[in-house]
Amino acid sequence: SLLLFSVVFLVIADYVKNRRPNSFPPGPWALPFVGNIFSVDFSKTHESLTKFAETYGDVYSLRMGQTWMVVLNGFNTLKEALLTQGHCVADRPILPLQDDFSNDVFFLSGIITTNGHMWKHQRRFALFTLKYFGVGKKSLESAIVDESMHFCKEIADLKGEPFNPHIITNNAVANIICTLVFGHRFEYGDEKFMKLMVLLTVFLTAQLYNSFPVLMRRVPGPHHTIRKIYSDFMDLIKVDISKHKEDWDPSEPRDYIDCYLSEIQKSNGDAFAEATFYEDNLIICALELFVAGSETTSTTLRWAFLYMAKYPEIQEKVQAEIDRVIGQSRQPSMMDRANLPYTDAVIHEILRMGNIVPLSLPHSTNNEMQLGNYTIPKGVVIIPNLTSVLFDKKEWETPYTFNPGHFLNEEGKFVKRAAFIPFSAGKRVCLGENLARMELFLFFTSFMQRFTFSMPSGVKPVLDYRFGVTLAPIQYKICAKLRQVSSSQ
Ligand code: HEM
Repeated sequence: SLLLFSVVFLVIADYVKNRRPNSFPPGPWALPFVGNIFSVDFSKTHESLTKFAETYGDVYSLRMGQTWMVVLNGFNTLKEALLTQGHCVADRPILPLQDDFSNDVFFLSGIITTNGHMWKHQRRFALFTLKYFGVGKKSLESAIVDESMHFCKEIADLKGEPFNPHIITNNAVANIICTLVFGHRFEYGDEKFMKLMVLLTVFLTAQLYNSFPVLMRRVPGPHHTIRKIYSDFMDLIKVDISKHKEDWDPSEPRDYIDCYLSEIQKSNGDAFAEATFYEDNLIICALELFVAGSETTSTTLRWAFLYMAKYPEIQEKVQAEIDRVIGQSRQPSMMDRANLPYTDAVIHEILRMGNIVPLSLPHSTNNEMQLGNYTIPKGVVIIPNLTSVLFDKKEWETPYTFNPGHFLNEEGKFVKRAAFIPFSAGKRVCLGENLARMELFLFFTSFMQRFTFSMPSGVKPVLDYRFGVTLAPIQYKICAKLRQVSSSQ
C-alpha cells in the first residue's frame, strides 16, 4: 500500500506541476511523467504535429516528458510569432545533448545552438564573411559552375546507367561551403574529404539522440563516438588553420578562416571584448557551416532529380526554356534567372514540396509572449511548423500537387509568394538562404542543360521520405542520359 500511495502521490504531483494554466495554449491530454510522447508518430513527426492543429487550433501545446512545447501552425501565426514578435522567440532551447556535454566548449560555441552575445557576434560575422566571399558575386558563381562541371563529367562517365546520386551530390554541394570556409575544394573520393563526409553522417545520428535522449543514452551506436569524431575534425581543421597561418596576409583574406584569424587577433588581450572569437570556436563554426550547408542543399537536389523523373513533361519544359535562353554553348549564370521564370518556379516548387526542414529548428521564448488569446511564458520551447505553411490550404491553390504554377502569373512571369518559407523567417532565418538559392539555381540549370533524368526501366519514382535532420527521399537509383541538342540552339 506504501507503493500504491507513492505512485498516486507522484501522479498527483506530476499533474499539479504540469497543469496547463488557463491562458496557456490547449493541447491533447498528457499522460503522467511522459506527457504526449506516445501521441506523436516520430517517423513522421511533422504530419502528427500538423494533424493536431485540426483539433486544437493553430497555437497548441504538447508536453514531451517534462518539457512543454508550443507548436505554431499556419502562415498567419508564424508571421505574427517569427516576424512581428520575432524579438520574443529568437532563442534556442537547451537540448538534451547539450546538457550531457555541458562542460564542453562544443554546445556553448558556434551559431546554431547558441544565444545572446555569442550568437549575435558569430551570426553577424558569418553573414558578413559569406557575403564578402561572394554570395551574390561572380567568383563564387564560377566556383559553383565549375563544381557542376565536375559533377556532370562524373555522371556522363556512367553513360546513362542507374546510379545512387546521394554521395556524389553531397560531395559537390559540400565543396562549395569548403571553398568558402577552407579556401579550396576536394577531389571526389579524397581521403580527407571522405572523413568529413563520415562526420556528417555521425552528426545526423546525433540529432536522433536529441529526439530520444533517454533511449539513445542507453543504446550503443555511432552517436557515442561523437567526441572522437569531434577531435578528428578538430585535428583536420587545425592542420588547415596552421597552413593558413603560414602564408596569411591579413590585408588580403582568402576565406572564412583567414577572416576569423583576424578577429581572433583583434580581440586578443582586450579585457572588455567579451571575446567570442577564439580558435576552438572557429572550429565549431566551420563545422556548423559545413553540416548546415551540405545536407540541406544536397537533399533538395536529390528531390529535384526525383521530381524531374516523375514529371517528364515538366522536365521537358525546363529544358526547352534553358535551351532558348542559355543554349548549349555557354554555362548558366545568375543573370539568367530573370529570364528563366519557369525554371525558377520549378526550383521553388521543389523546395516547397520537398519540405526538407519540416519543423524548422526549435526556438524558445526569451520573453513572455502574447499570441492571440494565449500567454506563453519565458523559456518555453517553440516549434515553428513550416509544413503547415508550405501546405497551408488558405495560401496555395493545390497544396499537395507539384505545381510550378504556384509561382507563375497568367503571363508566365515569376511571382514571389509570402507563404514560401522553407528557410523559416525572422531573426533566426537560415543564414545560408542566399547561398543555397544560388547553388540550387546554378546546379539545377547546369544539370538540366546537359541531362535528362529518368527512373531505371521498370522502376516507378517513389516520392516517400525518411524523417531525419532533413526530410530526404528514400535512397533511390536514377539514370542521367546526356541530351542530344542540336548545336544551333
Ligand atoms: C538554419 C533551412 C541551407 C546554414 C536553418 C533553418 C532552416 C534552414 C529552416 C532554421 C531557421 C530557424 O531556426 O527558424 C535551410 C534549407 C537549406 C539551407 C532549406 C537549403 C535548401 C543552408 C546553407 C547554410 C545554412 C547552405 C550554410 C551557410 C544555416 C545556419 C543556421 C540555419 C548556420 C542556423 C541559424 C541561426 O541559428 O541563427 N536553415 N538551410 N543553411 N542554416 Fe540553413
